[in-house]
Amino acid sequence: MYTLLRDILFNFDAEDAHHLSMSALHYAFKIDLIKKTLVKSFNCNDATLLKTVFDLPFKNPVGLGAGFDKNARYINELESFGFGFVEIGTVTPKPQAGNSRPRLFRLPKDKALVNRMGFNNDGSKAIAARLRGRKRNIIIGGNIGKNKATDNNDAWKDYETCYNELFDCVDYFVINVSSPNTPGLRELQEKNSLQRIFANLQNINAGKINPKPLLLKIAPDLTVGQLDDIIELASEVQLSGLVATNTTISREGLQTDAKTIESIGAGGLSGEPVKEKSTKIVQYIHQQTNGTIPIIASGGIFTGRDAIDKFKAGASLVQVWTGFVYEGPGMIQNICKHLVQQSSK
Ligand SMILES: Cc1cc2nc3c(=O)[nH]c(=O)nc-3n(C[C@H](O)[C@H](O)[C@H](O)COP(=O)(O)O)c2cc1C
Repeated sequence: MYTLLRDILFNFDAEDAHHLSMSALHYAFKIDLIKKTLVKSFNCNDATLLKTVFDLPFKNPVGLGAGFDKNARYINELESFGFGFVEIGTVTPKPQAGNSRPRLFRLPKDKALVNRMGFNNDGSKAIAARLRGRKRNIIIGGNIGKNKATDNNDAWKDYETCYNELFDCVDYFVINVSSPNTPGLRELQEKNSLQRIFANLQNINAGKINPKPLLLKIAPDLTVGQLDDIIELASEVQLSGLVATNTTISREGLQTDAKTIESIGAGGLSGEPVKEKSTKIVQYIHQQTNGTIPIIASGGIFTGRDAIDKFKAGASLVQVWTGFVYEGPGMIQNICKHLVQQSSK
């Protein structure tokens, strides 16, 4: 059924298809019978899937990665597909339009996407207002970033603004310094810049009655030296965890012809081609830290087996994005069923 729908959707521009399908779902969800049918069909509840990470109770370890529901518009609808958690954002302090379109491209031969969205979002105030007061029945991560116009020297202020605005509305924070689509952002992965951002956030966090877990999302293109720096920093600034990884700027080993790749231009590549790279990074961090830092694995997860590979590499939780586009909403249940089967072996 989804294969047919996907064939239709793939005739549209990728970003239009995303908005079209999410709006249709949003309106369909207003009909109680449809809502109940979706919740029942895609249900992933099983006691063996319950997991506590960062002291938070996840009903299952399969989440939706940042960038899918940037503005926190579709959390209830996404929850009905069985996700154990949803990460909203990237949210920036001020609303911004992002890069000019087209900025999202499919590479079906590679089961991949290329995007250069550029943190298009409604801004932290509007997004916090949307989240405030909603019934809390799923774990929500707040992925935060800096505005394009903010100088890197002042980036820490943008992270502080987003943290303050979203504090009451999310369960954990992800500091995103790894998107390739905001000029200069990835330079913030350098140790001194990260120290400044995290020292400030941890300072404010420490003053709260219930501080929030602070995680860092990293790129798959980091060198071993950079990864070692991040591991060192993680203990220095008491990171609660890492999200590994974001999209890659590499275009190595693709099946799609070089001319098409060139015509698409700059952006982050996600899906199947990033799978192995991301898994290796999860494994490296897990080994170097003796498993002391919880990792959310993100990159190229399509099946239950892919998820198991990430857990074997040392992940505590996984997130999907590109796989969800290619496999459809049944994917979460398929992964969860596989995890339940494996746990009983
Ligand atoms: C269209 C698109 C937009 C994205 N936007 C964000 C974002 O705003 N913030 C972020 O941290 N990651 C963003 N990502 C990265 C994903 O969250 C994920 O880390 C990455 O795509 C790798 O996972 P995947 O191979 O399952 O897609 C985006 C990915 C895509 C495809």
